[in-house]
Amino acid sequence: MTDITTTRISQGAARRIAGGRWSHCRGARNAGEIAVKVSRRDVMKLGLLGAGAAALPIGAGIREALADTSPIQSPSFTPFSRPLTLPPVIKPVRTVDGVDFYEVSQTVGRQEILPGRIATVWGYNGIYPGPTFMVQSGQPIVLTARNGLTAAATGLPGGVSTTVHPHGMDVEARSDGHPLSLVLPGGFLEHHYPNSQPATTLFYHDHAIDHTSRNVYMGLSGFYLISDGNERSLPLPNGPFDIPMCFHDRLFNADGSLFFPTDGALPLRQGVFGDVILVNGVPTPFLQVERRKYRFRLLNGSDARFYNFQLGTGDPFIVIATDGGLMPHPVQTAELEMGVAERYSVVVDFAKYRVGASVLLQNVRAKSFGDPVDPAKVRDVMRFDVVADAVDTSSVPADLAPPLDVDPAQATVTRRWEFNRRHGAWTINGELFDGARIDATPKRGSTEIWEFVNDSGGCRHPIHIHLIQYRVLDRNGRPPKPYENGPKDTVTLGPDQTVRVAMKWSSQFLGTYVFHCHNLSHEDHMMMTQFEVVA
Ligand code: C2O
Ligand code: CU
Repeated sequence: MTDITTTRISQGAARRIAGGRWSHCRGARNAGEIAVKVSRRDVMKLGLLGAGAAALPIGAGIREALADTSPIQSPSFTPFSRPLTLPPVIKPVRTVDGVDFYEVSQTVGRQEILPGRIATVWGYNGIYPGPTFMVQSGQPIVLTARNGLTAAATGLPGGVSTTVHPHGMDVEARSDGHPLSLVLPGGFLEHHYPNSQPATTLFYHDHAIDHTSRNVYMGLSGFYLISDGNERSLPLPNGPFDIPMCFHDRLFNADGSLFFPTDGALPLRQGVFGDVILVNGVPTPFLQVERRKYRFRLLNGSDARFYNFQLGTGDPFIVIATDGGLMPHPVQTAELEMGVAERYSVVVDFAKYRVGASVLLQNVRAKSFGDPVDPAKVRDVMRFDVVADAVDTSSVPADLAPPLDVDPAQATVTRRWEFNRRHGAWTINGELFDGARIDATPKRGSTEIWEFVNDSGGCRHPIHIHLIQYRVLDRNGRPPKPYENGPKDTVTLGPDQTVRVAMKWSSQFLGTYVFHCHNLSHEDHMMMTQFEVVA
């Protein structure tokens, strides 16, 4: 597929294309800021889509997309040879009237991901994963993101246009990183993050139209942690015993560079499935732990891969938080399924193991639909090595946080969304993404029930709604998994499943947001649509 926005649209051209909807923000505060809105229709009209992409072949490509062979095999390496590392915590560049100002640049970096081999990454401040934001609920911040992914830096004609999406955040539309609000190479955008929600593990990632999959694969993703007074008052493991971990599967060329498949089967491909599992960018790492409790904030940041996590000892995880924050009560589970973009905080107690013991974190998921990788290759994810005794004063209380404010009995509207294959692509209610179309106009303050229906054979879709958190009501009429009983912004929709969720449109913000499958390959091709919150 031709690189639409990144290779073909110069700033001038984008201005011409976008015509009246060009939002060029050059104010005293935003000097030099460049944001462009281009609808896919505009792009198509101008013939910027490659011929093959514009004429999506009906039904073609399915065979290739479902082919059961990996395009390459990554070089082998010794597992558990590197320690888990944590991305650095980003510091504000200045504080004005109590508001912290942060800056990141999307730039090209070079990183040793596979031992002894160097990969080019596109990272926030040149690092992958990007720096971690640690902010307080109730304290807004301003983030200026500069796009340094120029043609010269990336070697791609036109460079790479970007948007930054704070996944799971209650945020104004303009700062949400809408896929069409592209920031061109050399431009920047100021984002206003209110941090008005309770303590939670969010993440920020690229969301550029048609290229989210590639841009995130190349490294544009990082953690965004919000804390609050309630969380701090709880005796949960914290500080050095509270560890974020993101899971990315990747393919590597023989020289250690990232391999991103861009072949003709794109429109219907199942996703990019890697044969190396990275935890915070480290392949199959180890982590030295003390004999005490730890909180792990797990994020499935993969393109398409789902994980079923288990401890090698068979001991349970204590799940304390879902996507949008702490659950009302902890839930124990021996196996934890994580769809793409889901986050769970789990507590693991290593006190029962002796010093010298090792505990594996394993992915026991059987082969997924369309996944060419041998499950044995992606089974061992990391290893905890118990190295020291500890005095542990932390605990997991029975009550963690009030439940999400939504009462399905108050719902005034029910919307049905079908996730399927049509027109040779991934669709919602049979429609491809179109930046000129709005498919729902929920009223601010109202409560709705959304019904997700999957009749796409063996495909599995992680369904994400921007702006709000929802409650999962049921899956095929039965209660969700106990550990799904917390605030969620992404839910797993399996084959032949109907999942119902309820949300209250309690955000103060009005405007247009996207809603999509978070299999990033599905999202790009084009299982995404828009809703507009109205007064
Ligand atoms: Cu994590 Cu619309 O995204
Ligand atoms: Cu999908």
